[in-house]
Amino acid sequence: MKRCILFFCLALGAAPCRAWDQNIESKVVPAISSEPDDPAWSKITSVRVVLAPQKLLAPQGGGAVSFIDVQSARTSKDVYFRLRWPDATKDSKFELSGQFVDAVAVQFPLLPDSMPSPFMGEKGKPVNIWRWSAAMQEPQRFPTAYADYHRPDAVEKTILYPTQAEDLAAEGFGTLTKREQRSVSAKGIWADGFWTAVFKRKLTVPDGTAFKKGTVLPVAFAVWDGSGKERDGAKSFSVWHNLLLDRPAPALAKNPIERGRRVYNRYGCATCHGPAGEGGVANPNSQVDPIPPLKRVAEGFTEEEIKAVILKGRMPVAKDPNGIKPRLWMNSWKALMDEEELHVLVDYLFSLMPKEEEGW
Ligand code: HEC
Repeated sequence: MKRCILFFCLALGAAPCRAWDQNIESKVVPAISSEPDDPAWSKITSVRVVLAPQKLLAPQGGGAVSFIDVQSARTSKDVYFRLRWPDATKDSKFELSGQFVDAVAVQFPLLPDSMPSPFMGEKGKPVNIWRWSAAMQEPQRFPTAYADYHRPDAVEKTILYPTQAEDLAAEGFGTLTKREQRSVSAKGIWADGFWTAVFKRKLTVPDGTAFKKGTVLPVAFAVWDGSGKERDGAKSFSVWHNLLLDRPAPALAKNPIERGRRVYNRYGCATCHGPAGEGGVANPNSQVDPIPPLKRVAEGFTEEEIKAVILKGRMPVAKDPNGIKPRLWMNSWKALMDEEELHVLVDYLFSLMPKEEEGW
């Protein structure tokens, strides 16, 4: 649903309206396949999701790809996602260290009815990540060893990807683990400056995200561009959007503060600033360590000032210039967030101000 206020965009003459809180329908269809160029896909609605460079956590990077077009469908047994994104060059050399390949990932909460941090989940609220790279379907030219993508110390034998997609779980930054079940398969095709990849998995698997009819599931995406030297955290990412499993889009809360709370959660502000802005996580060697709480921003900021911080981001300054670089940065949210989201987010942040201290 587009909630951009057209008038506002015209009046500003600014960047074109972008669309947020995207609703991606996943309906049951009689037949669909993992073939990216199966004509049946042309009947499935495609939704464009905006991506931004990952500038939250070292190693920062990404930004080569600014959007991904997403389709989803189900059969009585399986769920499918077809992802299409621009990439001028095909980079599919095997993922040995020092080589960069094109890749894509889709992320869901692992547990029902939860909205974890969009940045790889959080403790007690894990996420399930399916990741495909262009290297996974190349002939196995390096038959002896493979330096694991996420843990350089781990060495595996070939054949690595019988199902040609990784099924991963995470509970926060740096906790990515491969899952035993190789239940996710994928296939990608590069043509005319675009990758098109299809993921497929059974609707339910033990300990995997469940795709239950009638539910709405948060879903997020990431893309790596090999030629752009993107790998690990150097990627383009999205915040949470809605996957609708045979149901209409959830109604927006009437109360702007409630809508703002949802923006706060979808954008993962809590990952660094704590739930309800109660106080942030450690950021060693930053002049502001831990990361500041947000519940009192009404004291120190005007509405315009706080909007400026959110749109521009803010680079932490090192306490000791010779020490480590602070690991967590305040991203610029400009590429992802629309005016109305920003507005209700600030309403929400202002509402966090402890009541007894107001208006003296
Ligand atoms: C990856 C961590 C991270 C995330 C996620 C994050 N921030 Fe921040 N934020 C920071 C850091 C670090 C600072 C402090 C930078 C400095 O001044 O040293 C900060 C500062 C701020 C400030 C200024 C606060 C003050 O008292 O100076 C505001 C306002 C803010 N963030 C809002 C947000 C909002 C709203 C979101 C979600 C859209 C968000 N942040 C997401 C890391 C993050």
